[in-house]
Amino acid sequence: MKVAIIGAGIVGAAIADAMAARGARVHLYDMRRPGAGASQASAGVLAPYVEARPGSPLLALGARSLAMWDAWVAALRARARIPFHYDRSGTLEVALGDEEAAHLRRSADWLAAEGIAHEWLEGAALRDREPQVSASAAGGLLIPSHGCVQVPALVAALMASARQHGATCETPVEVVHVEQKTRSVGGTDVPPHVHLRVGDRVEEFDHVVIAAGSWSRRVRVAGVPVFPVRPIRGQLLHLSWPGESLPRRPVWGARCYTVPWPDGSLLVGATVEDVGFDEHTTVAGVRELMDAAVDLLPGAARASLDGVRVGLRPATPDQLPLLGPLAGHPRITLATGHYRNGILLAPYTADVVTRLLLAGDPDPMLALTRPDRFQEAR
Ligand code: GLY
Repeated sequence: MKVAIIGAGIVGAAIADAMAARGARVHLYDMRRPGAGASQASAGVLAPYVEARPGSPLLALGARSLAMWDAWVAALRARARIPFHYDRSGTLEVALGDEEAAHLRRSADWLAAEGIAHEWLEGAALRDREPQVSASAAGGLLIPSHGCVQVPALVAALMASARQHGATCETPVEVVHVEQKTRSVGGTDVPPHVHLRVGDRVEEFDHVVIAAGSWSRRVRVAGVPVFPVRPIRGQLLHLSWPGESLPRRPVWGARCYTVPWPDGSLLVGATVEDVGFDEHTTVAGVRELMDAAVDLLPGAARASLDGVRVGLRPATPDQLPLLGPLAGHPRITLATGHYRNGILLAPYTADVVTRLLLAGDPDPMLALTRPDRFQEAR
């Protein structure tokens, strides 16, 4: 099977790697370079039990993908020589006042009802577990199954592995037009195929996967409305932690989250801003994150600011991905709109898309993310 993947972020790279490893002839296209969209700004936290709210289908999707990570990483490390940091020491969500503590206790009750392992910590027990957390913290919720991953190196490893299996990647090039064609030869219908306009030429594929994140709405599919994906800006600080020990694991507060890297850096994310395709950093965004980080981890006041990154998260109206075949266009599959959880959901996304395209095996969970669900609601 000859497959085009539009977008070489974490999602496109993961699908390319999985499909190429199973013998597909994969061609990636990206308007920038691999991993240069939302992926390059991601802090890489794997935290479905913080990101999902009670009742959201994101819980089932996130839990399923989280369970795939250890094996996915082990298999990738065996294939690609590019090292990347991956850690499953859990996350610690911290409440700084009584109101936040009440909210966090409700989260603990919910996790208990769902049967998800967690630990409530306060006082000396909290500071013993994470000494850098503010002494005024009212409580903390440790979720041991969570983790984090170094995203830029992970994307590089996925791309290297995909290339080892023959995948190609053309950049920078924008694919703006996709059209599924049917034809008959001698009066007999032959399977449909897909035309892609790549720059000023047209390429033909058996199947196309649209994984262009926020830019997916610029990919027009003949006869189909614009995809309901819009960019939500996230600014992220890169701090160099002062001499004393870094926090041991990602620490979440109500106004920011922090992620330690083994090189002594601390990432602080992230703003949530509905400002269109604007990838600038702002003083207001940096100040918001700095204030929040210092309230959560007072040692951050002595850190140096090494940089600020910006990413545009691809958001859909219900904040769930558009993942699955496009209605009426079985040769076009969407894998976009992962919003805050593109990294977490990458192994699941790669697996369900690969099984769908190469084995004709639609995963039942694809019903949660059908790309046409908003058309029916109108
Ligand atoms: N996954 C966290 C964020 O998007 O900021």
